[in-house]
Amino acid sequence: MTVKKIFAGLGAVAGMLLCLQCAPSQKKDATDTSWDALAVKNARAQIGLAIDTIEASGKCLNPVTMTPEGKVYYCGYADWRSGFFPGSVWYLYELTGDSTLLPLAVKYTEALDEAKNLTWHHDIGFIINCSYGNGLRLSHNEAYKDVMVQAAKSLCTRFREKPGVIQSWNVTGDSWQAKRGWECPVIIDNMMNLELLFEATKLSGDSTYYKVAVSHADRTLKEQFRPDGSCYHVVDYSIADGTVRHRQTAQGYADESAWSRGQAWAVYGYVMCYRETGDRKYLDQALKTFRFMKNHKNLPADLIPYWDMDAPNIPNEPRDVSSASVIASALYEISTFDVPEAETYKAYADSMMQSLASPAYTAPLGENGRFILMHSVGSIPHNSEIDVPLNYADYYYLEALKRKKEIENK
Ligand code: GLY
Repeated sequence: MTVKKIFAGLGAVAGMLLCLQCAPSQKKDATDTSWDALAVKNARAQIGLAIDTIEASGKCLNPVTMTPEGKVYYCGYADWRSGFFPGSVWYLYELTGDSTLLPLAVKYTEALDEAKNLTWHHDIGFIINCSYGNGLRLSHNEAYKDVMVQAAKSLCTRFREKPGVIQSWNVTGDSWQAKRGWECPVIIDNMMNLELLFEATKLSGDSTYYKVAVSHADRTLKEQFRPDGSCYHVVDYSIADGTVRHRQTAQGYADESAWSRGQAWAVYGYVMCYRETGDRKYLDQALKTFRFMKNHKNLPADLIPYWDMDAPNIPNEPRDVSSASVIASALYEISTFDVPEAETYKAYADSMMQSLASPAYTAPLGENGRFILMHSVGSIPHNSEIDVPLNYADYYYLEALKRKKEIENK
């Protein structure tokens, strides 16, 4: 063995020890029967079963949802949802301190390496930040920094100077997006991709990524919201002069309706922008959109929204659990800010999470395709993924449990 190899080996061992040290120990007793402790135990068991299935296959499968035939749908690296399962394994590692999860989180994350070069859609932020971003935070693997920065570079190829935004979807070929007549569609979901750009500036020292993120956040703030605080799903811009061409929906009930997950992405996205910039206008927007949801006449008593707040057959419409977990996670973060009555945001998030952790939304062990939560909606207008489990509902649920735990352990 060469000296170089010995040092490399020692480095790997030291890295592992560092990881084990940073895996938080369970502060609560193993016999804790509080709803959140039970939720973590249940999530560990359910995701453990999903992992058993993946490992038995001998492949690096990436579970997303269930098909109408009752099979688990697994995706490839380019799917916008490919970062959520690896990210969930990182969160479970963090929540439980179970070191057997570490090599699995690493393996599932590194299977996405090629995603750093994706330039044909905007979702690279979701993909890379949820997987490599959590991996970097928890394992301190230096190589992950390069992946994050390369991914941010790829995302920035989609920045359009005149409107000052990152184009969400391509509109070429015979895709359904092309058929809508859009030129530069931006969806509110795109706010979530900006977190990768803020991270890339911190990692590289290059402020380009930060500036692109702020430009996108500012233009979206100006164009994508209604006076009541709710947001449009899609705003289409002119590439040539930057003007707004359309304000519409793709996954909501109607152009003027409030698609619930869109509202959730807006709340979470602007909370994150406030954290990264300190610019109060972002937090104000997040709070306004949250209040729109909270005070909406169609919000059910258990706080789990219908898929669209204006869906025509409420109360006989599917709920969307993914919207609830995204909002709950954002509310825990708001409760850590210097805002009036900060503790009320935590109390509200706790109520949402208690609903999610109840048998009404948490699947029995081994059922539901081995996803944690039931009853999410992908896209009703596309007749796709209606009242199913979705891996991003689970991801933000685990993130919310982690944030709750951090707040309470302080
Ligand atoms: N970003 C796609 C969705 O929320 O369905």
